[in-house]
Amino acid sequence: MAGRKQIRRIGVLTGGGDAPGLNPAIRGLVYKATSANTEVIGIYDGWAGLLDENMGENWPLTQNTVRRWDRDGGTNLGSSRTNPFRDTKGSGDRGPEVLKNIDALGLDALVAIGGEDTLGVASRLADLGAPVMGIPKTIDKDLGGTDYTLGFDTSVRTVAEIVERSRTPAGSHHWVQVVEVMGRTAGHLAYWAGMAGGAYMVLIPEHPFDLQHVYSRLNARLSGHRDRRSPRYAVIVVAEGAMPAGGHEFTVASGTDAFGHARLGGIGTWLADSIRRDTKHDARAAALGHPQRGGPPSPVDRNMGWMYGIAAAEAAFANKWGTMVSARGVAPACDISLVPLSEAVQSLNLLDVGKLYDTDRYTAKQRVLHL
Ligand code: F6P
Repeated sequence: MAGRKQIRRIGVLTGGGDAPGLNPAIRGLVYKATSANTEVIGIYDGWAGLLDENMGENWPLTQNTVRRWDRDGGTNLGSSRTNPFRDTKGSGDRGPEVLKNIDALGLDALVAIGGEDTLGVASRLADLGAPVMGIPKTIDKDLGGTDYTLGFDTSVRTVAEIVERSRTPAGSHHWVQVVEVMGRTAGHLAYWAGMAGGAYMVLIPEHPFDLQHVYSRLNARLSGHRDRRSPRYAVIVVAEGAMPAGGHEFTVASGTDAFGHARLGGIGTWLADSIRRDTKHDARAAALGHPQRGGPPSPVDRNMGWMYGIAAAEAAFANKWGTMVSARGVAPACDISLVPLSEAVQSLNLLDVGKLYDTDRYTAKQRVLHL
């Protein structure tokens, strides 16, 4: 179409925490782009790969290179939490350097695959005139502007399986198993995996919990059982960003990353310790950590990655700078469109407590139709 810039070379990078579905997305992008004789250049380690000191290396991606990437977890390009607008090594704002290097690599378009932070950088670069687009990825599913972020489905499956597996030891030994799940300030992963895995309670960041109430819910299940066949264990899934009412988030270390985020963690151990101290129930804690982002992508993440990658190439061909591919509806049979990057990173998408969460029982609402 007249007036459109011809796209001969597209760059692609993956930033932030890795997630299953990144490699399938790169594969979709490469297949679509190279079928139209457009080159794709893989940039290593997120935004770090576009800083001067890393400019020597990148990876031209052909269909043969990425052929088997549909089944690979993580990101074959590597990732980092680099924020070029807030360089921690003291060089300050390195946004202009990234813009210069996009040109130096001869990129007609750049596809950034990431979450709130990586796409926040993409949005700022687009405002500065860069030909940038985004693909949404995060196991937290907390990005605005889309109903699906790559990695979420695989992580829900992984976490749900571990929650389910934790029921047999807890049941055999009659203890309370606390399972701490990632998700940062969003409860999507904890909630859906917890419910699917059979957790008795799920504590989410969106609704600070009352510790005494957690105890009374445990007593209601575990005390006064009439025979050995009634439940003698309970699994509590707690999101890493959950907190007691009037309390604060638990963090594993002081300080923040280049995007100002603290590393969350530790609430699971605190909760199990509190239960052992204040009640007559035994308790154990398991923090699932990074393996919950690991492993091969699920069929949903393979299909969504493929479609998102193709959509990003189409957006590049149409010169739709400053946009993110977005899914509406249930993945993978969803509608894919483009939304402004600025809209996607404007505010976080949190769990809809009013619709889904029983704030009295700390579990899913037993009401769906609202007739
Ligand atoms: O955003 C994805 C995520 O896994 C969060 O759920 C978690 O809080 C964070 O990344 C962990 O960060 P890192 O990988 O830097 O330890």
